[in-house]
Amino acid sequence: MDRRAFIQRLPKAELHLHLEGSLEPAMMLDLAGRNGVELPYADIAEVRAAYEFSSLQDFLDLYYAGMGALRTAADFFTLADACFRRVGADNVTHLECFVDPQAHLGRGVRFADLMQGLNQAVHEAAGRGLEVSLILCFLRHLSEREAFKALEQAEPHHRDFIGVGLDSSELGHPPRKFRNVFAAARSLGFRLTAHAGEEGPAEYVWEALDVLGVERIDHGNRALEDDALVARLRRDQVPLTLCPLSNLKLRVVPDLRAHPLKRMLDLGLLATVNSDDPAYFGGYVNENLGAVAAALELSEAELSAVAANSFKAAFRGPDGPLR
Ligand code: ADE
Ligand code: ZN
Repeated sequence: MDRRAFIQRLPKAELHLHLEGSLEPAMMLDLAGRNGVELPYADIAEVRAAYEFSSLQDFLDLYYAGMGALRTAADFFTLADACFRRVGADNVTHLECFVDPQAHLGRGVRFADLMQGLNQAVHEAAGRGLEVSLILCFLRHLSEREAFKALEQAEPHHRDFIGVGLDSSELGHPPRKFRNVFAAARSLGFRLTAHAGEEGPAEYVWEALDVLGVERIDHGNRALEDDALVARLRRDQVPLTLCPLSNLKLRVVPDLRAHPLKRMLDLGLLATVNSDDPAYFGGYVNENLGAVAAALELSEAELSAVAANSFKAAFRGPDGPLR
């Protein structure tokens, strides 16, 4: 069967998508105009021209600037509704979606407005057959004290989140910096995940597992540099949420033929494919699967295994919590 049709027909879970990374240039300009927010772009072509990244930080600078267009509950609904419709079109039946509340609270957005927009979109997605769980990410370039503040401010909305994560600038911000806030989140019943080993060393993956106690690793590419870590990830079947097009755009890999997905599958790791920031990196999950399958010459059996892994790696199944 044609590869694209095969991928489309596979039911999938998407586990690594930043809501704010789904903000398309047209919507960004539209919302900025509506809210009187000044952005350094005259039109869509200028936004797209700016999307040439040489590192994670390079991307993050634009990502935080772009989300400045989002201000009201209606804006967050508009963003999330478009995102969830697009995710569902790829035959994704379950989405665990990262949100960066600190990036909005710092600009004067009220937590209640953020959640009003998101909850409405989550509710409507469920009616279309897409189950969405939200994950609150702490921004690792800020302090642990700031992360605690975000967890406190989220208090009226804790039940709207299935878990917490850790994202933003990785190098120089090791997981151990957030050990106390992850312990607090765990005792509140949140599921735990963290970005590690995207640009940071294998050591950060160890720390995410052993100091933060996460159940899943977001990215984890550099884990392959450490044989003992690979053995641990295989033994415990720790899910890795890989993002091939992101890795290409942020120069984590020079070429998709060098992407670690196939090596990880061959090593018996529980690897999944996801889209990270689809508006910035050029595709949702089917485009990520299609591009990496072409580059690595993945078989239909391998693609089916990756899709099956996405459900094994999910925090929630169709009938509620999995673990
Ligand atoms: N926030 C949004 N996308 C991210 C990524 N790829 N790594 C770290 N933080 C992020
Ligand atoms: Zn990410």
